[in-house]
Amino acid sequence: MKRLLTLLAIAAVLASSLVACAPVPQVIEKEVVVTATPVPVVVEKELTVYHWWTAGGEKQAMDVIFKHFRAANPDIKIVDNPLAGGGGITLKTVMQGMLAAKMPPDTFQSLSGSELKMYVDGAYLDPVDDVWAANNLDTNYPAVINKMVTFNGKKYGIPMNAHRANWLFYNVPLFKELGLEPPTNVDELIAVAKAIKEARPEVSPIGLGSRDKWTAIFLFDVVLLSEGGPDVYEQFYTGQLDVETDPVIRAAMEKYKALIPYLYPYHGAKIWSDIPGPLGEGQIGMMVIGDFAAAQLVQAGYVEGTDWEAVGFPQEPEEVFLMIVDTFTRPVGIKHPEANTAWLNNLADPDTQAEFNIIKGSIAIHKDVPDSNYPDDLHQRASAAFKGKRIVPASAHGALAPQNFLSDWQDILTRFLYTGDVDAALSQTALVMTSYDVAGQSEWYWAK
Ligand code: GAL
Repeated sequence: MKRLLTLLAIAAVLASSLVACAPVPQVIEKEVVVTATPVPVVVEKELTVYHWWTAGGEKQAMDVIFKHFRAANPDIKIVDNPLAGGGGITLKTVMQGMLAAKMPPDTFQSLSGSELKMYVDGAYLDPVDDVWAANNLDTNYPAVINKMVTFNGKKYGIPMNAHRANWLFYNVPLFKELGLEPPTNVDELIAVAKAIKEARPEVSPIGLGSRDKWTAIFLFDVVLLSEGGPDVYEQFYTGQLDVETDPVIRAAMEKYKALIPYLYPYHGAKIWSDIPGPLGEGQIGMMVIGDFAAAQLVQAGYVEGTDWEAVGFPQEPEEVFLMIVDTFTRPVGIKHPEANTAWLNNLADPDTQAEFNIIKGSIAIHKDVPDSNYPDDLHQRASAAFKGKRIVPASAHGALAPQNFLSDWQDILTRFLYTGDVDAALSQTALVMTSYDVAGQSEWYWAK
């Protein structure tokens, strides 16, 4: 088609220049007529996918999805566009540009909840109720997932795995050597960190990679859950509290401050995926992160139970499943709608979910995938917690809190890790909560 247009353009230029220096040779006109004969256009069957699964373990997990997709759709070519950056921090920016320019890919990754809502509010997504109904997801997925993809009465994404954000990973030989038990609340976390620092000054008690600032939120979130429990957590992130005066939020910020002396000192130079390796080696004692870190540890050859272990954190006042839900979408105006439907159907398939989640570190959300699907202890415990504990949407990346607030919030927290100024952090937080109308933006979460 491009060649045809080029030929036509050349012919037109030639024709006009020849007109200028008449007489016009007949043959040129004939050529134009000949090349203008319609050429059949072959529309390739393909699917353009944008996602952020590039770290160790994540790429291998994505390959499992591709494998299942190709088996069911051998004639559709996958055009893969991975964009590094945990939680889609790079993808989000790229996608906003592509969507605004009306150049949508056939599908892209999002997190369910407030992040997904951002695309819905921009009128960038078409509903996926057909796929939802065809796979009977009202029955096969838990109600909280249903709520996190439903806006204006329609479904806007197909989630396929749940990560638990509130794991505390720790180095097993170090804990054995020092006779330590994994902490169950933030006070114990501080005490264990202190014990590590005193006994082994060369070890960083708590690992963190805050260059991608969202990890600072992960750490704050478990502190808040420990100080206030899940109700306060949900109220805070949906703008229901007076942040400047609320005693629990202040206490959480104070405890967060108490962790600062025990953090890996160069955290601002690292990202999340830089931390699991040193933790497996014993240069870092503990790390609060989602179970995607498990995939990376396993991929790097560190053995659960021998080199590292992870516990749900905090366990007091109540142990919850702090959930991140990876989701794929159907953008408006896509070139290959059939391929999109095939892609989304594949994600909802329990067989795809079962195999994918073993590698990804997350768990399947389809109820037909049993705990026993997973060969390792961490997955089995995550799967049991998903079924047995209260599920709370994680704030990180906007599953619960709105995007614009989170962007400022992660700046406030990363700055705080250097200043430790509680009053300033609280008043700045209160200000951005009001100016972004977090309460108004979060009404969807409380709607009955
Ligand atoms: C999830 C993703 C993980 C990690 C995480 C960051 O959506 O599956 O691989 O990027 O976000 O919170």
